[in-house]
Amino acid sequence: MDMESRLRTRDPDRAHVFFLPFSVVRMVQYIYPRDHHDMKPLRKTVLDYINLISGRYPYWNRSLGADHFMLSCHDWGPYASGGHHHLFFNSIRVLCNANTSEWFNASRDVSLPEMNVRSNVIKVGGPSASGRPMLAFFAGGNHGPVRPVLLKHWKDKDSDVQVHEYLPKGVSYVELMKKSKFCLCPSGYEVASPRIMEAIYYDCVPVTINANYVLPFSDVLNWKAFSVQVSVEDIPNLKNILMSISPRQYIRMQRRVKTVQRHFMMNGPPQRFDLYHMLLHSIWLRRLNVRIHPQD
Ligand SMILES: *[C@@H]1O[C@H](CO)[C@@H](O)[C@H](O)[C@H]1NC(C)=O
Ligand SMILES: *[C@@H]1O[C@H](CO)[C@@H](O)[C@H](O)[C@H]1NC(C)=O
Ligand SMILES: *[C@@H]1O[C@H](CO)[C@@H](O)[C@H](O)[C@H]1NC(C)=O
Repeated sequence: MDMESRLRTRDPDRAHVFFLPFSVVRMVQYIYPRDHHDMKPLRKTVLDYINLISGRYPYWNRSLGADHFMLSCHDWGPYASGGHHHLFFNSIRVLCNANTSEWFNASRDVSLPEMNVRSNVIKVGGPSASGRPMLAFFAGGNHGPVRPVLLKHWKDKDSDVQVHEYLPKGVSYVELMKKSKFCLCPSGYEVASPRIMEAIYYDCVPVTINANYVLPFSDVLNWKAFSVQVSVEDIPNLKNILMSISPRQYIRMQRRVKTVQRHFMMNGPPQRFDLYHMLLHSIWLRRLNVRIHPQD
């Protein structure tokens, strides 16, 4: 935000939204007693923080937090936000862990794409359909509610649908993504998967397999046009579902993957339509739903 002074103001009367700059990652690092399984100090810290700013400034009480936003990609982001009732139910929470079964509310919260890599250091792009001999690919740990089902049905079952728990030695994960027409992105411990972004970067059509997940930027991006959504129940039919997409349809979808790539790129300084602008746009859309009553 510091690089985009056009969008940031230090004059609170000119601000549409207020950022709550706390980091759940740092809190886990410094406040969570490792292996204690007691996460309460996280919530206590968030509560103290909100009490501090609501006592010190007039802005929180004016909207009960509705024009304030937090951001966290940590698995425990939603849990930490529960430290203060109004943060949890009123504020705009920008979260990777966008699980609608855990109170993520798509009309108020923002789904943050999860990523492993800094997009400005990866080499974006990949072969066209004819350079992709495999139908589908996945490699990753067998955890969470979805992957055991995927591995049970597809691990070592079919050379077109390559589902691995561990990659064979000497094989590059990125190369396999580039050899595959579709990249499987099942939920892991949490609903979001960095594979969705990776697939998009490497021109591989993402296949999201999850339940209760709100896809990022779904206010403005038509995910069905450039990705395939498969429910957990349909995992046994995965190959049929992907085979039913005609080569012409595939080419169109892959072209659209390239079209949306720029919305998932991080640039420093930010550029129009990139990830940063998309996030602020999502926040802005939600802010539009909030009316602030001027105080007498
Ligand atoms: C906001 O409300 C809280 C709780 O009612 C109160 O303790 C606090 O002093 C208020 N803040 C301001 C700036 O008046
Ligand atoms: C989601 O948020 C909107 C806007 O704040 C609210 O009207 C709605 O009741 C919420 N839905 C749920 C299920 O909490
Ligand atoms: C989403 O939340 C529900 C309710 O807590 C949970 O059962 C489910 O496993 C979560 N999904 C993932 C992928 O973690």
